[in-house]
Amino acid sequence: MTKNITIIGTGYIGLVTGVCLAELGNNVTCVDISEEKIKKLKNGESPIFEPGLPELIAKNKSRLKFTTSYAEGLEGADLIYIAVHTPSKPSGEADLKYVFAAAKEIGENLKIDAIIVNKSTVPVGTGHKVEKVIQKETDKKVSVISCPEFLREGKAIYDFFHPYRIVIGADTGHEKAVATLKDLYKDVVNSHAEYIITDLRSAEMIKYASNSILATQISFINELSHLCEKVGVDVTEVARGMKLDERIGKDAFLNAGLGFGGSCFPKDVRALIALGKQQNARLNLLEQTEKINERQIEKSFSKIKKILKEANVNFKDAKIVMLGLSFKPNTDDTRESQTFKLIDILLKNGAKEIHIIDPIVSIDEEIHREKFLPKRIRGNKKELDKLHGFTDGNIQEQIVKAATNADLIILATEWGDFTSLDFASLGALMRNKCFVDLRNIYTKNALEKHGFTLKNMGRK
Ligand code: UGA
Repeated sequence: MTKNITIIGTGYIGLVTGVCLAELGNNVTCVDISEEKIKKLKNGESPIFEPGLPELIAKNKSRLKFTTSYAEGLEGADLIYIAVHTPSKPSGEADLKYVFAAAKEIGENLKIDAIIVNKSTVPVGTGHKVEKVIQKETDKKVSVISCPEFLREGKAIYDFFHPYRIVIGADTGHEKAVATLKDLYKDVVNSHAEYIITDLRSAEMIKYASNSILATQISFINELSHLCEKVGVDVTEVARGMKLDERIGKDAFLNAGLGFGGSCFPKDVRALIALGKQQNARLNLLEQTEKINERQIEKSFSKIKKILKEANVNFKDAKIVMLGLSFKPNTDDTRESQTFKLIDILLKNGAKEIHIIDPIVSIDEEIHREKFLPKRIRGNKKELDKLHGFTDGNIQEQIVKAATNADLIILATEWGDFTSLDFASLGALMRNKCFVDLRNIYTKNALEKHGFTLKNMGRK
């Protein structure tokens, strides 16, 4: 049955969820406090880069509404999704101010009883607090349930329609709300997926635990890659061999590289660690996951220094090309991008010039926006002047321009544009043929035949 759904927050999760729910035939109103985002959406533009999203917005135009007004947005809603972000506080805890602000607005503007679906990643116990905040403002009845999100940026639409599971967390007395949500997702819960119906607090923990184990897999393989390197083993072969064990799984996060970034893993790992400390139940393994991820930056920097030293190039004189700035391919998101951290350490150690190419993200815009730059270099003109972006030409032309007289190319984000580089042509342009592959895309054989020296993350 068609439902009237309101989504609070049009970030990467809220917007994709809203648009996909409209694609399922529901009437969806997306509410956001950002005038700029809503203006774009009303004009049919997506405020974020997510493959397939603009087409889906256009296709479902008649079922989608966008507004900055809670009163307008909540009109007639059967289901209200909270999908606002929960950034880290300096202590590592999740900052819930946007969640509670949304809850208060919902309470103040509610005209009929409603189901509140919490999609934001929130610490255990938050759902109950949200219910209290709303009920303080209204005498309408709300059922607060948790339905954590497992979409990956860049593949979010595919993930929405092909979930591994739909987790619904609700306490006794909210059976009707659970049934409504099950009905909503029935067309996407295909033969491979399952509903996990559990209590509110467990659902909240499932989300943190899932992101944390994936992050831990990454740190495990990253640490192992250093041992592989020492003993002459190719870590990609090890991962291939591991993934066929169904207890580990073909989709396991075992690609060694620069480490995990983005708006989810770093913040969620931090929040779960903080909860463990608060509850006097420390998560030692997860604390190491975080530390290993930080160390990947130093390890990458060592490789960069070493390759240049071996080529008799002074690090401080080198022309460096950085491929990729977003935290992973197919997104414009640079939040906690490991590339930024690598750029910071390069600058801190005296790098002279870094030329940065990304198919979607512009370094000049990032510098202008400041928000996601490492703190040390924010507003630091002397350092920022060493970063060079490209505004003209297509990506291939930009690569050619950047590689001319370069000493080193670093592959930081494995965008499709960077996974089949023409090394014969690049080599002819470069002053020194050094390549550091921080995403393990290339083999030594492929590069050495063009005279390149390659360093990677634990590949032979
Ligand atoms: C992650 C989860 O995968 C989603 O299930 C979850 O819904 C989302 O967080 C969220 O909490 O909202 P996302 O951050 O979009 O999704 O990106 P991932 O594809 O999970 O990658 C995260 C980071 O790990 C990236 O920096 C990526 O480069 C890195 N990574 C991933 C590796 O270094 N190795 C791998 O094998 C996999």
